[in-house]
Amino acid sequence: MTPSAHSKFLSETMKFIPLILAVNLLVSASYGQVEEPVRTQMPESLRTRKVPEPSNLSQFVKNKAEAIALGKALFWDAQVGSDNRTACASCHFHAGADNRSKHQLSPGLLRNIPDTTLQVGGQNHQLTKGDFPFHKLSDINNRHSTVISDKNDVASSQGVFPEDYLGLDANNQEIRARALDTSFNIRRTNVRRVEPRNTPTVINAIFNQRNFWDGRAMDTFNGVNPFGRRDSSAKLWKTRSGSDVFEVAVTIDNASLASQAVGPPLSAFEMSAGGKTFPELGRRLLNAKPLALQWVNRQDSILGSRIAATGKGLNSATYADMVRASFQSSWWSSTGRINSSTAGTDQSYKTMDLTPSVSPITNSTSSYTQMEANFSLFFGLAVQLYEATLVSDQSPYDKFAEGQSSALTGQQKRGLEIFLDKGRCVNCHGGAEFTNASVHKTTSERLSLMLMGDSQEAVYDEGFYNIGVRPTSDDIGVGGKDPFGMPLSLSRIASQRGSSTYKNIAGTFPNTSVEFGDRTVGDGGFKVPTLRNVELTAPYFHNGGTRTLREVVDFYNRGGDFGDQNINDLSPDITPLGLSDREKDDLVAFLKSLTDERVRYRRAPFDHPQLVIPNGQQGDTKSIANDGTGKAVDLLLELPATGRNGGRAFPNFLE
Ligand code: HEC
Ligand code: HEC
Repeated sequence: MTPSAHSKFLSETMKFIPLILAVNLLVSASYGQVEEPVRTQMPESLRTRKVPEPSNLSQFVKNKAEAIALGKALFWDAQVGSDNRTACASCHFHAGADNRSKHQLSPGLLRNIPDTTLQVGGQNHQLTKGDFPFHKLSDINNRHSTVISDKNDVASSQGVFPEDYLGLDANNQEIRARALDTSFNIRRTNVRRVEPRNTPTVINAIFNQRNFWDGRAMDTFNGVNPFGRRDSSAKLWKTRSGSDVFEVAVTIDNASLASQAVGPPLSAFEMSAGGKTFPELGRRLLNAKPLALQWVNRQDSILGSRIAATGKGLNSATYADMVRASFQSSWWSSTGRINSSTAGTDQSYKTMDLTPSVSPITNSTSSYTQMEANFSLFFGLAVQLYEATLVSDQSPYDKFAEGQSSALTGQQKRGLEIFLDKGRCVNCHGGAEFTNASVHKTTSERLSLMLMGDSQEAVYDEGFYNIGVRPTSDDIGVGGKDPFGMPLSLSRIASQRGSSTYKNIAGTFPNTSVEFGDRTVGDGGFKVPTLRNVELTAPYFHNGGTRTLREVVDFYNRGGDFGDQNINDLSPDITPLGLSDREKDDLVAFLKSLTDERVRYRRAPFDHPQLVIPNGQQGDTKSIANDGTGKAVDLLLELPATGRNGGRAFPNFLE
């Protein structure tokens, strides 16, 4: 290691703040006056952060307000799903996450040897409090105590029924064929597929430098799929005038959410019949009336002024109108036709070999308009611009960090102290974003060094840690590979492929010197989730196996669950904390100070159209109603539309 690498390591270890300073801070807390070492540790108000935005946005977007409205419509529109019943919001409707509890179990599909059998309950199981945590110990404070039960299932979100895409019919609807998925049926009646990782919140996700638990949604958007510069074949179509059209590669920075957004619409787990392409999705949606099937509130902060006379849907005739109002014409105005059948096929879980085998599109031979061929660009950027408005910066903690000492209770202030010091939480959940995986933190520090349990240094991707929630072999996380065979872990690219390959993918040279063969850690590492609004987003962790914040704190207090098995990759901060019951309560009270009440009550900017959401299927885990076509009958949950002043708060998971 070079001297500069060593000093970087030193500054990492100095993150530990003397308790006395934290106490000083709490007594004299006032914005801008605190002592230097503390100010760098105590997370700032989120209002101090600029919302990340692509530097070259104006090359693509001509009217940002229009694009935000388009993004909000697309995010909430059930027509985006092949079945006209699955929106992005179907899994991201409760504080940006999912509080459903029936048919939310996925078996251990991401294990090194996949496990296709459920352990907690069968398909269509109604989760109960007693099912949690998935790793039950006889003594919650001792990870070596007798294991009462251990389940490798994941509590996540139901997506779509297993189906293959065959094309569009005369009414602009998808022709689909039933597919069989051995993991998702009850006696050959298909049930909805369930995702293999728990659903994180979209609120404040704009601050994440990369998205998904394993960081596979890259910070640069290539206009086509989640993989940014990793996919050198990704191309869009541009025109100067008339029918002229040519292929171009684009690189849009600060756009991880756009990269992310183009994954689910084609995913045969999340939203689509398998084998669809983005131009096909474009053809269907560009001819559809936005939100045609859903009520929109007259007071909606973004869409209220655009409602159709009937109250259902928007007053734009089609999505094509909204695209024309939002994007530069060089991306859609060509009168020429394009032969593009490959653009943007489902790669969302290809990295994990989960893409079900699909038949190719059969009856779709025609070429595409430029607008259809570039639909992934419009979808990605519009959804990102909408999600960039979902910033919750008015929690009691923000007010406290801005100098209003009374915004936190005495108990919450004690909890903050533990967060900063004895609990070591801030070492990973640092900064105003409450995660080190932020744009702010990683701009200068994408790669970091840590001293592992065996006193050897290793390079890792800042903001991604193995904390021993599950054995590393259950889900390798950022230790996995992209569809092109490249490590998802940037540190591994630097150490195994060299710094010029690293630069091709990351856009810059490594911020710390990495030699060929240097030790890296990544296996079983997951992106640190934000803790903002965490009160509302149970169940927790990438496997959704923990139900309450108190159980999360118990987990950290005993030094994690699989620290011994995962020791080669485990973060050295994961060791027993020795917290008393009272300290645990204080810490939980502090975490609740991160709730922005506008999120709880679905007030602007968190207001939204109506959505009818699948919520398990008729029947139980053994016997299930069949709709006559080989699939189960949905139970439905209605989320009424809210306007800028919000509505009632919905119960959190299993409350
Ligand atoms: C079937 C449920 C489902 C649907 C539908 C769905 N998502 Fe997700 N979303 C998930 C799950 C599960 C993950 C985590 C996957 C992973 O990390 O491997 C996720 C991750 C995300 C993230 C990353 C957040 C983070 O902190 O890493 C964002 C942003 C997001 N989804 C937005 C969207 C958008 C936009 C759409 C529609 C285009 C969408 N989701 C559709 C379940 C869903
Ligand atoms: C070594 C880094 C690290 C430390 C220290 C740490 N965390 Fe975490 N935290 C993470 C990572 C990584 C995850 C996601 C892990 C996973 O799901 O496998 C996480 C997840 C969580 C979650 C679940 C959030 C969700 O949406 O699922 C909560 C709550 C949480 N941490 C609170 C805390 C508290 C409180 C402390 C201090 C006692 C703490 N963390 C210390 C890295 C850390």
